Amino acid sequence: MKERIKLLLQSAKEDIKNASVSKELYELRVKYLGRTGAVTELLKGMKDVPKEDKPAIGKLVNDLREDIERAIEESEKQVKAKELEKRLREEEIDVTLPGKALKKGSLHPVNLVRNQLIDAFSGLGFKVFEGPEIELDYYNFQQLNIPEDHPARDMQDTFYITDSILLRTQTSAGQIRCMEKDKPPIKILSPGRVYRSDYDATHSPMFHQMEGLVVDKGITLCDLKGVLEEVCKKVFEADVKTRLRPSYFPFTEPSVEIDVSCCECGGKGCSLCKGTGWIEILGAGMVNRVVLENCDVDPDVYSGFAFGLGLERIAMLKYGIPDIRYFYDNDIRFLKQF
Ligand code: PHE
Repeated sequence: MKERIKLLLQSAKEDIKNASVSKELYELRVKYLGRTGAVTELLKGMKDVPKEDKPAIGKLVNDLREDIERAIEESEKQVKAKELEKRLREEEIDVTLPGKALKKGSLHPVNLVRNQLIDAFSGLGFKVFEGPEIELDYYNFQQLNIPEDHPARDMQDTFYITDSILLRTQTSAGQIRCMEKDKPPIKILSPGRVYRSDYDATHSPMFHQMEGLVVDKGITLCDLKGVLEEVCKKVFEADVKTRLRPSYFPFTEPSVEIDVSCCECGGKGCSLCKGTGWIEILGAGMVNRVVLENCDVDPDVYSGFAFGLGLERIAMLKYGIPDIRYFYDNDIRFLKQF
């Protein structure tokens, strides 16, 4: 028994000396002191030791256990210190290295144009009024003098949710919501997304409009022309020409369309302006008496003008963007340019 104890201590010390990482030491602790470890096995042999030798042998076994325990602990201290030192060396941070630059975001061209327009119109006293994108047929069509089955509905291919609920096809729905809420004088701008079942280089199923509505005593078409000329000059920064053409909208009478000379070709004619040199940016007109009456505004006392413009169209013109689909591709190379 004494011999076994001596050998065990020797082999344990040898093992501990060779261990270089804490995992090995843990394994050694199990090997010698664990529940099925060598020292425990040794204790089981105690029953064969003659009675008179038991106290002495028992003490030797206890000493053995303590010796091994101590040896492991000491070795552990050294190994852990070495491991820590190694980690600190490996994970050292060179604070003199240049940092990773944060990429700076920028406003989307549609938002840029939206903000520029809001700026220009706010200077003329317009306030922003926002309506919902999921809209009632009532506001999007009926109250705007486009009754059910009216052929003018064909002008706007519509995404219906139910027979009476739809994705708004025009921010003009906001005109009615605003006049229901406030009485004249009214001077609002209503920017937002609109939806139509349309898709080519200049049309997208979702795009952005900005509506304008002014209702007061004595408002005329000249006020509309003056306001829009002023804003176009600001937003397009000088040289852009505008023209008015007679048009038709059920909710304005008379109705006009306003064109801006094409920035891409300077008016010579290109694919963006479909060879005409002009791009339609805006539908407008004097608010139809029927619409005023629908909103309990007396058309014999008040008159107003309204306009609706496409933000993408203006951004395309201003920045010479040839295809509306670039706006929605989220290509950083495109977006970075503005
Ligand atoms: N809502 C019309 C459209 O989307 C534009 C418009 C607005 C026309 C206001 C006249 C007055 O085409």
